[in-house]
Amino acid sequence: METTNYIGLKCVSCGELSSAEHFHYTCHACGENLDVVYDYSAISRMWSKDELFKNSERSIWRYLPLLPVFSQPFNTTIQVGGTPLIQSEPLAQSFGIKGLWLKDDTRNPSGSLKDRATEVGIQHAKEMGQETMVAASTGNAAASLACLSAQHDMEAVIFAPSSAPEAKLTQILQYGAKLFPVDGSYDDAFDLSTKVVEDTGWYSRSTGINPILSEGKKTVSLEIAEQLNWQIPDHVFVPVGDGCIIGGVYKGFYDLLKLGWIEKIPKIHAVQSNGSSAIVNALSTGTLSAVNASTIADSISVDLPRDGLKAIRAVKESNGAGINVSDDAILDAQHVLAKSSGIFAEPAAATGFAGLVKSIHQELVSADERVVVLVTGTGLKDIKAAQNLIKIPAAISPNLESFKEHWN
Ligand SMILES: Cc1ncc(COP(=O)(O)O)c(C=O)c1O
Ligand SMILES: [Zn+2]
Repeated sequence: METTNYIGLKCVSCGELSSAEHFHYTCHACGENLDVVYDYSAISRMWSKDELFKNSERSIWRYLPLLPVFSQPFNTTIQVGGTPLIQSEPLAQSFGIKGLWLKDDTRNPSGSLKDRATEVGIQHAKEMGQETMVAASTGNAAASLACLSAQHDMEAVIFAPSSAPEAKLTQILQYGAKLFPVDGSYDDAFDLSTKVVEDTGWYSRSTGINPILSEGKKTVSLEIAEQLNWQIPDHVFVPVGDGCIIGGVYKGFYDLLKLGWIEKIPKIHAVQSNGSSAIVNALSTGTLSAVNASTIADSISVDLPRDGLKAIRAVKESNGAGINVSDDAILDAQHVLAKSSGIFAEPAAATGFAGLVKSIHQELVSADERVVVLVTGTGLKDIKAAQNLIKIPAAISPNLESFKEHWN
């Protein structure tokens, strides 16, 4: 018989525990978000680092014993996860630190880390007998749902701000999803999607309320830990919008600590644009309240983060920091990252790296420390943003003279 080690859901705010048998998105008692609870003893009895080492599965499904579903999907021809952790000696040297790794999640099937959440969400929805999923998204989660729904034969209904980059909207349609561009902000799209889910009973893939999604995102930490041979880094820099990714990053390390597979949780830093910094503000004021978000990093442009509590917990429990960066610093970071590592990230995805640059200047990272930066989505979906710093040169004539004339 198929089993799962997922035994319940626990409220992040009031701690109420409910059984896994009756899945629900938010706490019955207080309405806050939920954590997935596992039976770590059962996992330890059935799974070990040795066994994991021998597993030839390269996708996130190699971590199935730590995921809240009974089995992996039937069809996994598209690989989600198993992305490279790229060590950059030159960058580490230029920052004067012991080690720097870039977790390149631009390499997921739809081009962003969001695929980790979608892959687990779709499997969970299928196990619940659902055939339609709904997402509100700044673009990447929607593109991800559209992409993996095409792979797994799921109906995808998407609400995204009509201002989302055209490439993302095009990507969604190309995969055959039903797209409703919303004349409003991401927050408006989110509220509409919630109403549609209530009205139809369809499965919600909206970041920030469905606890299953953090579980998919946490696989990035499981991979980082395994790729570093369980030698946990001192710092992890994470770009933050709703707070779901950073919540998942913390949960991954937390689970491994509970299993006794690692000795510590790294400092997890929340990096936001100063045009959209509700979480960073909350970390200094103690109150999470909405901002009027506006930033070039569209994917992390959020008025009121929907996974705020998990994000704040991730930073506080790990002794991390909230770091604000300017849009200019994000664009600089995007270019430096691409030039020095070969990873073309969208602005939001380069925001973690911008946070590292600022931390180096402020001496928050010391010379003997090891750092991982999450790079969460490809820059190819938002060419316009990248063109703020780089200009395509004027055409030359197709002859050697013209080349020589324009050389330097
Ligand atoms: C590329 C990218 N980076 C970071 C984030 C932030 O993730 P979260 O909203 O879970 O904080 C997003 C969210 O859309 C994203 O698309
Ligand atoms: Zn509660």
